[in-house]
Amino acid sequence: MSIVLIGFMGAGKTTVAQTLAKTYSLDFADTDLQLGRQFAQPAGDLLRRVGEDQFREYEYQVMQQMLADATLIIATGGGIIESPASRVLLQQEKKVIWLNVDYQTCWSRIAGDQTRPLATKLSSSELQERFKVRQKYYRQVADLEISATKKSPQQLAQEIWRLTNIRD
Ligand code: S3P
Repeated sequence: MSIVLIGFMGAGKTTVAQTLAKTYSLDFADTDLQLGRQFAQPAGDLLRRVGEDQFREYEYQVMQQMLADATLIIATGGGIIESPASRVLLQQEKKVIWLNVDYQTCWSRIAGDQTRPLATKLSSSELQERFKVRQKYYRQVADLEISATKKSPQQLAQEIWRLTNIRD
């Protein structure tokens, strides 16, 4: 059974997933990295090129494949929950973990990041609106919410290890 990390851009999903994988020798996949490999361009460039709707469809397909492969740790892109199909898929999982980080912290980590098109295209207030809308979706699909604002990747990895019977 997979552990799927969800949360807003800058919540630390990829770093925490990598830390978990490295610390406990688990296999790990990341939807953005996989899209990057599949389309031979960084996920941000793919999003810019194909637009958000198509990008959400690709994200869905990639996550579906990772779940079918029973990848143990899966880090997702922050917007994956905007796709109704992805939400349905996530609701069928039993170990979806929401790294909930406050908006200001996310913003301070992603502002001006050229690899994240939404963080450069939208103003802080527009992005905060997205954040608000998404909080409701993260809550809807998460089995476990972890308040992650001031915690290090190591702390979060340990917490996830403790809270989930990871190898079940
Ligand atoms: C996105 C988040 C990004 C990436 C893409 C779109 C979003 O992933 O998938 O730029 O819509 O929130 P991270 O959450 O890893 O930054």
